[in-house]
Amino acid sequence: MQRLRTFLDSHTDNKDVANIIDGLMVSCKDIAYRLNLGSLAGVIGSAEQENVQGECQKLLDVISNDLIKDCLAAMPQVRGLASEEEPDPVACNKDGDYLVLFDPLDGSSNIDVNVTVGTIFSILKAAPGADGASESTYLQAGNQQVAAGYVLYGQSTLLLFSTGNGVHAFTLDPRIGEFVLERENISIPATTSEFAINMSNQRFWLPEMQNYVADLLQGEEGPLGKRYNMRWIASMVAEIHRILTRGGIFMYPYDSRDPSKPGKLRLMYEGNPMSMLVEQAGGKASTAFDDIMAIDPEAIHQRVSVVMGSADEVTTAISYHK
Ligand code: AHG
Ligand code: MN
Ligand code: MN
Repeated sequence: MQRLRTFLDSHTDNKDVANIIDGLMVSCKDIAYRLNLGSLAGVIGSAEQENVQGECQKLLDVISNDLIKDCLAAMPQVRGLASEEEPDPVACNKDGDYLVLFDPLDGSSNIDVNVTVGTIFSILKAAPGADGASESTYLQAGNQQVAAGYVLYGQSTLLLFSTGNGVHAFTLDPRIGEFVLERENISIPATTSEFAINMSNQRFWLPEMQNYVADLLQGEEGPLGKRYNMRWIASMVAEIHRILTRGGIFMYPYDSRDPSKPGKLRLMYEGNPMSMLVEQAGGKASTAFDDIMAIDPEAIHQRVSVVMGSADEVTTAISYHK
């Protein structure tokens, strides 16, 4: 049995990042515990307020955000944090060298129905002297991430992360309160026959995406020559976990519902960290036009179109957009 702390110490020379990931798990274990108790802990339901993106916040969105925020603010390594549930970045410790961006609870529409949700995080290096409270400090492309990961609250609580040296999976053993190593150096198969997309948005997609998905649906009789199966959990974190486990392609593409938004998902705490994990596992992550991690961000809460997963399938999807 290998514990997370032991693994981190032997796996990375960056003690600060090891401490941040290890420390962050204190709040994630707390979130897992509360999710487990559900209505017994009084955590199910709406917070009856909206976040900066105009989305209705669930009680657990707010609780998870506060738990992670307090945890990070106490870490000497953390200069500042940015969260889906915080309108502006929050300065932490001015001597810290790192920035942590996170989605405290992804898939929160699934909380009330007891379906898997997760916490997504991305760690960036702060420029010398940069202000932890200023948005510009955080506006770095995804390929600058020093680490990324997620905690999945499902049948078990899992942690998957990368510090730029493969993707590794841990399972929380609630008997001892520790994450223990489950799988090292995860690899996504290059081809698959499973796709995930919210089909109810079909009429809003670009014609190129409509053509690609129409061909997926034609199966062995269509130009792609094989039968595809579909999955849609509506928690990106759970979809990406399935892809890291058995391959597949996940898409939340451009759509015309709101022309001011290039997609539903957020670049800095959903698109970028998931792209790092997928690419570290040998997969591919694109907007359907460009590499997600090459995008120069303009705002912390900016949206992005997402097509990621098995490399060959993502390459095929991109080829429809050329
Ligand atoms: P969040 O709960 O953090 O706002 O993100 C939810 C996202 C993502 O997890 C999922 O892929 C997508 O929203 C599902 O949205 P719809 O089912 O509304 O299309
Ligand atoms: Mn999310
Ligand atoms: Mn969220």
